[in-house]
Amino acid sequence: MTSLKPTIPPLVKNEGGQVSRQIFTDPALYRVELDQVFGRAWLFLAHDTQLPKPGDFLNTFMGEDPILVIRQNDGSIKAFLNACTHRGPLLCQAEEGRAKTFQCTYHGWVFGIDGSLIDVRPEGEASYGARKAEFGLKSIRIESYKGLWFGNFDDETASLKDFLGDFTWYLDTIFDPLPTGVEFVGGTMRQRLKCNWKLAAENIVADTYHVFAAHAVAAGVNMSRATMRLPVGIEPGGPPGISATVSGHGWNAHSDGYGSYALFRDPKQWMAYVDRQRPRYIERLGAERAQFIGSSIDGGMFPNFLFVPGFTYRQIHPKGPDECEIWMWTVVDKELPDELKQEMVRFNARMLGTSGMFEMDDCANMERITTTLHGTLGRHQYSDYTMGQGLEARHEIYPGLVEKRISDNGFRGYYRRWAEYMQANSAKDIPPTENLRHKERSHG
Ligand code: FES
Ligand SMILES: [Fe+2]
Repeated sequence: MTSLKPTIPPLVKNEGGQVSRQIFTDPALYRVELDQVFGRAWLFLAHDTQLPKPGDFLNTFMGEDPILVIRQNDGSIKAFLNACTHRGPLLCQAEEGRAKTFQCTYHGWVFGIDGSLIDVRPEGEASYGARKAEFGLKSIRIESYKGLWFGNFDDETASLKDFLGDFTWYLDTIFDPLPTGVEFVGGTMRQRLKCNWKLAAENIVADTYHVFAAHAVAAGVNMSRATMRLPVGIEPGGPPGISATVSGHGWNAHSDGYGSYALFRDPKQWMAYVDRQRPRYIERLGAERAQFIGSSIDGGMFPNFLFVPGFTYRQIHPKGPDECEIWMWTVVDKELPDELKQEMVRFNARMLGTSGMFEMDDCANMERITTTLHGTLGRHQYSDYTMGQGLEARHEIYPGLVEKRISDNGFRGYYRRWAEYMQANSAKDIPPTENLRHKERSHG
């Protein structure tokens, strides 16, 4: 692997408070990122509910590698490099579906859902037929947490649980709020964007700040309609919340209990649902986390798995130094009534979907950043993430380094983590994810 260690410190300086814009455009750095960030971090692949039956598969990416994720006959999940082991063409070209076998379009090799090569024509001495066992699909190391499956390319990387560390305390709020769990509904929305993948990721991991300017019109149009239906005392946005970073994973949340429904056509039916469930959320998660549910939240797992509960959950796939693809899902409580599930899918498409009112605001700004990155002067400028610097502290309830929302605390944690991955000579050199208080907590 190429080592760029001598050039890394100036790229991220002042404890993540300043980041060279070179990291959003430099092709050599991008190549190192693919190996040292995407090659070492645990990357989201799929949720259990996307693959309910044996033979169900979906195609995704780890960095730029196409990955085929398949439900096995025994109910387990396997993941493979989606490339024929003969000469390498993309094996399965469908985005998702159900299959018994996968056949290569070039010389016709047939692979089973367990990745084994099961048919080569012609059979016979000169053929590959006798050597089928050598040519099974390249298997990917996978682990799961609360129904979420992740893949990792590096055998030296710590377990998924270690990678998540204390962040599970936050993650459980949105992926394990009830014993019945959550489900991904409505399929996957995808869009290409002319910007570096980190610009799209940082926006959700940490940038609550942009909402007031970037989304002023979209929020104004929708909120004025919605707030008329909100009860007195429940204002969209609610009271100040927290901005937390746990070794690069970020969590920004209010605790008003209802803010994420402020833009819905009929917030009251959503509020009635969370009110009905709130005692069960409290029982499962404790009062502080239960209060997050329904509140406006944005956050993400380093490096590229992001969530805005009540809007979309998403993953940013890199497609070159200044291009990326955003994949978006709707995630809901399994117990949510069907009509509300459908309403959530429609709402997400309208707001943060590919052509959503909010999404366009964000995409326009990310692409505008890209337009300034290629100049002689422009690429050596620094982006600033110093809001609230020095105010972050430990909190007796909330894990990680915590500040009052709104701050750049999450950005700084994210880019400090990015630098750690970029500087580490091997996966073993990456400092472990913070796990200081995890063991002391009664609920995870
Ligand atoms: S490249 Fe796939 S069968 Fe030859
Ligand atoms: Fe936004």
